[in-house]
Amino acid sequence: MKVIRTVYGIQNQKKKLHLHPLGFVPTMGALHEGHISLVNNATGECPLVVVSIYVNPTQFNDTEDLKNYPRTLSADLGKLGTVLRENDMVFTPDDKEIYPAADNRVFHFGNLDNVMEALYRPGHFNGVAKVVSRLFDIVQPDVAFFGLKDFQQIAVIRDLVRQKRYNVRIAGIPIVREPDGLAMSSRNRLLEPEIRKEAPVIYKTLSVASALIKDHDISYIKNFVTKTIEKSAGLSVEYFEIVADTQFIPVKTKKELKNGCRYYGCIAVKAGKIRLIDNIEFPLV
Ligand code: PAJ
Repeated sequence: MKVIRTVYGIQNQKKKLHLHPLGFVPTMGALHEGHISLVNNATGECPLVVVSIYVNPTQFNDTEDLKNYPRTLSADLGKLGTVLRENDMVFTPDDKEIYPAADNRVFHFGNLDNVMEALYRPGHFNGVAKVVSRLFDIVQPDVAFFGLKDFQQIAVIRDLVRQKRYNVRIAGIPIVREPDGLAMSSRNRLLEPEIRKEAPVIYKTLSVASALIKDHDISYIKNFVTKTIEKSAGLSVEYFEIVADTQFIPVKTKKELKNGCRYYGCIAVKAGKIRLIDNIEFPLV
């Protein structure tokens, strides 16, 4: 694999190789098996793959979170070295390559701006849209791989592609979990040990809740999820909503569920100082 720091370097290498489809995996580094699964999907499908590692300051609504975000470039390159091929590229730009001038663009994503992550992380998706659109312009991929763990983020990216008419297919890749069920995340390594022990209750509770929908209404399930998780010391639920993947309007009663839609229970939990998100499909009943 080739490690490339500049836009010029990426474009030069692309011109030389001319291999298609070109797969792209954007990341912020601190790579774990979830990221590697995206990379393996990309190499499985594409003769040329670009992985980017860039901690994007414009998507952090919390300066402490940006400061504390794990940066482990040499370990990341070690992991990528085992899964990427000779011609594949790792793009590790600095801020000047991504934002050569101030980027004041404002994006609108309709209802996606008014629910869940958008409410708790104001400006977050605007920053994601800035960096992903910039990266798409630089890399010009045919397929881009995103994890379903960031459920609302994928929907934002699909809308960005539609609005900007990018000729890119967005592939959604299933969540990779730790053996105890906790969704893998770069932030997991920041959890205090006592809280890390409690954190698997998040996915366990989502799993139980997704079976409860057969016999219970939404308000019961929401109450169950919050109460069960908050029994663990140090965990508090920011939101838990059930939404259709196409609509993102929180469902209030079972009467609203429509055949032909797929529903997901999406959660954000404050685990000590660290914010974790997860989701699970709720089967239609
Ligand atoms: P980051 O959090 O590094 O995640 C990069 C990609 O890995 C995202 O598409 C995310 O959904 C996926 N991912 C993370 N954990 C996963 C898991 N446990 N299973 C499967 N996929 C997982 O998401 C971002 O970076 C940034 O917002 C980015 C898109 C790079 C823009 O800066």
